[in-house]
Amino acid sequence: MPTAPFDFTALLPAGLPPAAARWTGRVKYDFTGGNNDPDALPLDGLIAAAEGVLRREGRTLSTYGLNSGPQGYRALRDFLSGKLQRDAGINCSADDILITSGSLQALDLVNNTLLARGDTVLIEEDCYQGSINRLLKLGVTPVGIPLDRDGMRIDALSNALADLKAKGIRPKYIYTIPTVQNPTATILPLERRAALLQLATEYGVPVFEDDCYADLSWSGERPPALYAMSDIGNVIYIGSFSKTIAPALRVGYIVAPWSIMSRMLAIKTDAGSGALEQMVLAEYCTAHFTKHLPVLRKSLRAKLVTLMESLREHFGAAAEFDDPQGGIFLWVKLPDNVDALKLYPLAQAAGVAINPGPEWSVNKTRARSHLRLCFANLSHEEINQGVAALAEVCKREFGAPA
Ligand SMILES: Cc1ncc(COP(=O)(O)O)c(C=O)c1O
Repeated sequence: MPTAPFDFTALLPAGLPPAAARWTGRVKYDFTGGNNDPDALPLDGLIAAAEGVLRREGRTLSTYGLNSGPQGYRALRDFLSGKLQRDAGINCSADDILITSGSLQALDLVNNTLLARGDTVLIEEDCYQGSINRLLKLGVTPVGIPLDRDGMRIDALSNALADLKAKGIRPKYIYTIPTVQNPTATILPLERRAALLQLATEYGVPVFEDDCYADLSWSGERPPALYAMSDIGNVIYIGSFSKTIAPALRVGYIVAPWSIMSRMLAIKTDAGSGALEQMVLAEYCTAHFTKHLPVLRKSLRAKLVTLMESLREHFGAAAEFDDPQGGIFLWVKLPDNVDALKLYPLAQAAGVAINPGPEWSVNKTRARSHLRLCFANLSHEEINQGVAALAEVCKREFGAPA
């Protein structure tokens, strides 16, 4: 009898991504990822919601799709249509919404419906790594549009669209996180939204609006969604419960015209996203979502203040950043000689995990000395200790802070 373990390698088809590394646990001070605030997670409310909805409707778990059809649990879509109208000005019904397994699945469904190898899309220059990597894996070229303190620069967008047109290229979409952008936390003002939509219409390019942080602006105010402002149905909108309730639930959603929704639905072949989390969210959010948000924002804002104070104390002028308008991230610029990709493993060895700027930008050179720090998941004490440890490593390796 052979004793060697079975070898799968000869059977793997070409084009498979490299093998994943095994998870080795989180470091002590983890400023990475989009993890949320454990203190503000509404645990008692979720427990009560689970008990209530399961006692009332639990037997519908015996059907695929909870008797609600392939677009997801009806009560959750009803909650969302009301919420999106109230908060984002979006006039849609439950029939315009598709529940997905996190908004990452929404990104995949939109991409797999619209994109082919060799395509071009426009995206904010500093941008969500998950979006950039998906495009690169698909063989799609992301053209970065620079941002300023008010988000995507419309003059640059206009130039890029004109340039591409001159080359005979029609981009497949303009991807944007207009409300509390990741990683810069900027909010695109109303006039820029109107100008962006006008350009999109002029060039016949749809807009892909990723809105998962929109409920986390400190003021609680936000401009209307691009989806709400378009009168020709050229916007695909995605959202998520990851940033407002909990990322581990894996519940996101798409709002889109039926012409494109019907194509996405046709490639969502998983027989429905997880039912229990949809039921619990619908039950909890219908009664408590609007009361939960101010609690969450307050807790996040306090942690951000701790992070900014700690950076000022330990890095001084060597750490430059704008006070974000909301969200869970701080986008920090260190002195030019700091190579964030080199800092990353050194910090990791000292128990501090950071997201190096080049991984969150299509302009790797300009983002060389940037870091993205998530402040939501750590305690105030851990934030202080983590920043102190990071400053020590940075000083030792790069002489900054001086
Ligand atoms: C801009 C953006 N879009 C989408 C996602 C994916 O989130 P989820 O799949 O948890 O909904 C994230 C997560 O951090 C994000 O920052």
